Amino acid sequence: MANEVQDLPAALQMQQLLAGFEVSQALYVVAELGVATALLDGPRSVEDLAETTNADSDALGRIIRFLTPLGVFRSAEGGVEITDLGRTLADGPADSVRGLARYWMETHYSPFSGLLHTARTGETGATKVLGKPFFDWVGESSHLSELQNSAMAGGGRVARADLLDAYQLPEGQTIADIGGADGALLAELLAKAPERKGIVFDLPNVVAKATETLAAAGVDKRATVVAGDFFVDNVPAADVYVMSVVLHDWDNATATRVLKNIAGVATAGTRLVLVEMVLPEGDRPHFTKMVDLTMLALLGGRERSETEWRGLLTESGFALDRIVSGSGLLSVIEATLN
Ligand SMILES: C[S@@+](CC[C@H](N)C(=O)[O-])C[C@H]1O[C@@H](n2cnc3c(N)ncnc32)[C@H](O)[C@@H]1O
Repeated sequence: MANEVQDLPAALQMQQLLAGFEVSQALYVVAELGVATALLDGPRSVEDLAETTNADSDALGRIIRFLTPLGVFRSAEGGVEITDLGRTLADGPADSVRGLARYWMETHYSPFSGLLHTARTGETGATKVLGKPFFDWVGESSHLSELQNSAMAGGGRVARADLLDAYQLPEGQTIADIGGADGALLAELLAKAPERKGIVFDLPNVVAKATETLAAAGVDKRATVVAGDFFVDNVPAADVYVMSVVLHDWDNATATRVLKNIAGVATAGTRLVLVEMVLPEGDRPHFTKMVDLTMLALLGGRERSETEWRGLLTESGFALDRIVSGSGLLSVIEATLN
């Protein structure tokens, strides 16, 4: 279907685009029910698959038929098999985005029905539809907080790709990961720097899992978990501050408040390491442009170009030193407190 889209008349092409909501929900069903996971060992009949995943076999068969031309499944002798694309919705593969599929559909989907409100007013669709700011709504539910953490950990790994493989953190004994969620990134950084200590700081419900993550990585003796709100509480003192996909959640005025919280606690010369996307200039297709829309609708945040990152950092008292990119979506943006 997708690769034939350009051969269709414009009105049909547009209908394909309009049906994006059906694609999203069908993929969510495959992820949520564990259909992709159940196919990892080879082809199965739809009836067998429906029984394993506790689904209605007619409905599941039609969802699979709909997703097959999109490259998620392939018909095979004895039933259906999963493709390399479809495997990313399974539990297990290193490039799995199953957690992201569940998180997006359970938390992002309904706020997007408020995009018209966002376009008219500039206010977030999330606040209009959910009745409160997005992170407050997620933070009130341990289920959604866990979904968010696992989506961030999985999606973050895919988006970072090889970025941190050869990357050396700036010098400094204690690393604080602000908005560090369940500690997955801090655990990775501490594992590569056995002489350093770390702190993971995030909202109480979100950081609750960090002790477990750090222990599983064997770095818990060098790590502290701090629950707090970076708009209310001082961030902990540290030598190097890491913030991974946090500032893109906020507009410039709010992102500046977070950076000024760090600047208020840290001394001149303290290094800041942002792991963020850098929006390319121009019309070329880029995933960052989709993420930017997510930020607009959900949080009032934004993706930023190199020039915009430099401006935000300067405004908050930091100087941008360098940007390091890998093969994935995320880059490292290093800065120093003036
Ligand atoms: C997009 S997630 C990034 C998580 C993690 N750094 C990563 O790279 O996977 C943004 C994080 O900011 C946290 N956060 C949002 N508001 C916060 C606040 N007021 N104080 C502390 N953390 C907050 C969220 O709970 C969430 O873990």
